[in-house]
Amino acid sequence: MKPQYLLIPGLLLLGACSAQTKEATASVPTLKDAFDGKFLIGGAINTRLVDGLDPKGDSIVSLHFNTIVAENCMKSEKINPAEGVYDWDDADKFVKYGLDRGMKVIGHTLVWHSQLAPWFPLGADGKYVSADVMKERLRNHIHTVVGRYKGKIHGWDVVNEAILDDGTYRKSPFYEILGEEFIPLAFQYAHEADPDAELYLNDYSMASPAKRDTYVKLINDLRSRGLRIDAIGMQAHMGMDYPDFDEFEKSLVAFGDTGVKVMLTEWDMSALPTVNTGANISDTTAYNAMLNPYPDGLPENISREWNARMEHVMDMCLAHADIVTRVNAWGTDDSMSWKNGWPVAGRTEYPLLFDRNHNLKPFLKKYLPQE
Ligand code: XIL
Repeated sequence: MKPQYLLIPGLLLLGACSAQTKEATASVPTLKDAFDGKFLIGGAINTRLVDGLDPKGDSIVSLHFNTIVAENCMKSEKINPAEGVYDWDDADKFVKYGLDRGMKVIGHTLVWHSQLAPWFPLGADGKYVSADVMKERLRNHIHTVVGRYKGKIHGWDVVNEAILDDGTYRKSPFYEILGEEFIPLAFQYAHEADPDAELYLNDYSMASPAKRDTYVKLINDLRSRGLRIDAIGMQAHMGMDYPDFDEFEKSLVAFGDTGVKVMLTEWDMSALPTVNTGANISDTTAYNAMLNPYPDGLPENISREWNARMEHVMDMCLAHADIVTRVNAWGTDDSMSWKNGWPVAGRTEYPLLFDRNHNLKPFLKKYLPQE
């Protein structure tokens, strides 16, 4: 008996065919099969999905992904909102969701200036705490969070977005209080808390040559100190006119040459005009129409160009599959992407691997195993 499939707009689901379940499952073309043996494939998921409020998103993730990353629930403002206070509810459910499905679960993120719990760097006087106090807070936070998920989280984005595009250190509270040492300290604490977890640096604008150089130095420095660092996460927030793919690839190769693995993280590609805040348009309606030009669907020519650019990136990952170990979209389908609200609120975006009807985007079809 041939396995029966139910085609829900683009999403292949198994039909009623219980005796054949095994055979049928093996026949469903999935992304995780497509890239098996090359790299992990997955996405960021939010608490709505984990809580069962996005069943179609759940189907995508369960069928196609073998790795997930926490979109928001592990950021310090959420998980450690006050000193000594931890809110584990969403993070626990997220980790269980992934483990129940046999996925590699990625923690995001231990040290980040954004969505940082406001109390973290401040004393009772509202001023930055001393270096000693900050070290202790960092150690407690990392030991507590990483320790709770010891043996469950496959890898951690230990430090996120520490370097600016010009290659200098971001003047975050961590940097202002501890200087460059906050990075090795964070890696040390994370490794103490779970010696088996993979540890990553993660950042955007990785095509920038200055940023590339600083990260190469930083990785070499961590390694020369004997600290564990497994991979560098190249955040892949892209658009129709950025990044420079050649420079992006140069960075990928340069990071790989240091001996660490490379992960394409936070992958999404805006299909909308890149926001130029200097645009000289006085009429708000015209300005909004310019920024949000496709509220009812992506025109065919833009879609074709978008797919070609995405295919180029995926082919780049495949060409470097010896060093690329994970490819991770920042979300599941277009309707839930953070890009609908950033950097401009209220736009209709098309940045992810699945469209609003939960169809796989056309560029991915060539990678699927043929039935
Ligand atoms: C974003 C989330 O997707 C949004 O829901 C949230 O409001 C803001 O943060 N770089 C990162 C991610 O490392 O954590 C950010 O995620 C996107 C940019």
